[in-house]
Amino acid sequence: MKVRAIMAALCATGLMLGVSAAQAAESVEVLHWWTSGGESKAIGVLKDDMTKQGYTWKDFAVAGGAGAAAMTALKTQVISGNAPSAAQIKGPLIKEWADQGVLVNIDSVAKEQDWKKNLPPQIDKIMQADGHYVAAPFSVHRVNWLYINKAALDKAGGKVPTTWDEFFAVADKMKAAGIQPVAMGGQPWQDFTVWEDVVLSQGADFYKKAIVDLDQKTLTSPQMVKVFDTVRKLTTYFDSSRTGRDWNLATAMVINGKAGMQFMGDWAKGEFANANKKAGTDYVCTAVPGTEKAYTFNVDSFVFFQQKGQKAATPGQLALAKTIMSPDFQKQFSLYKGSIPVRLGVDMSSYDDCAKKSYADEQASIKAGGYVPSLAHGMAQGDATAGAMSDVVTKFMNSNESSKDAVAALAKAAKTK
Ligand code: GAL
Repeated sequence: MKVRAIMAALCATGLMLGVSAAQAAESVEVLHWWTSGGESKAIGVLKDDMTKQGYTWKDFAVAGGAGAAAMTALKTQVISGNAPSAAQIKGPLIKEWADQGVLVNIDSVAKEQDWKKNLPPQIDKIMQADGHYVAAPFSVHRVNWLYINKAALDKAGGKVPTTWDEFFAVADKMKAAGIQPVAMGGQPWQDFTVWEDVVLSQGADFYKKAIVDLDQKTLTSPQMVKVFDTVRKLTTYFDSSRTGRDWNLATAMVINGKAGMQFMGDWAKGEFANANKKAGTDYVCTAVPGTEKAYTFNVDSFVFFQQKGQKAATPGQLALAKTIMSPDFQKQFSLYKGSIPVRLGVDMSSYDDCAKKSYADEQASIKAGGYVPSLAHGMAQGDATAGAMSDVVTKFMNSNESSKDAVAALAKAAKTK
């Protein structure tokens, strides 16, 4: 075959689109913690898109929900001079890494795709450090969801709860029907997620004062004691073998009808979808009792590390950022991941009812002031503060500590810098 014919054939199959010799040689190493069924399908979309553009994908997946193990691995890599091309970092941690002087900026892509116009202002701001874009956002997860197995709910004769009283009534009915009421995992971040849900059920203003402003008066208020009391009551509906259980195994318990309900962000929906379960028919997604009008957001993003001491982004890094924010990728990624696109204006018609509700609730809560960053998922505070507060919550949930003692410890932990 003549060279021209080979080129034509390659172009016809799409293999040549945008692929230069330099790109073909570049491999991009990507550190992330997306290893569950739904998560791997979602990150697989990015891998495929990058491969089609001629890059070699080097997967650096570190298992462990919410990324604690991944963050430890990342620090080791960076310290030893082997920083990956991109890593999953989000919220205030983006700025913490940028301050170390190890990131590259992706301003050219942000400008070309007009991120300022295409992102909600709160999120646009989080992607920047010192006036430069250093992170690319994937999607918006809502954290304050409760998932319910529909058959278990029907068998117990319960209704979808909207208040804590209604929740405990359903849970009791499930217990009486021989169904494990709550599927709960056993890692600190999962405890922290449930606790944060209960804080939010006291109202978005209470949440903001306690979790965003770290207001000492709110943190030590009788209302915060009540939060811990409710969490204590919730623990009586967990099973005894939750220690060390991964979140997706807890989701599987609800999918298989071994348990009735799970408190989890909508990455759990990615697991339901992966198991071919339908929202509304097989399971119900509903806001955590008392949080219908509020929305704890969790936006995943990638930051990009300097490679071989180069201060500018490589073509592969720019291609990653551009692909992540492209409308087609945004759509397919979220369909697998359980989230909604972070990019504004993506057509929601092919999404399920839960995603449509997430989108509608997001828009409504932004207007009403109930759109708040998730603490348990690294959006509200830096590492040290969030870690100290998480320790308090986990200790409480795995001991007989009194609510009053936990509140005092929490107020102290919130001062950690
Ligand atoms: C969250 C992350 C989600 C999901 C979850 C469980 O922190 O933002 O994308 O992966 O952890 O791993």
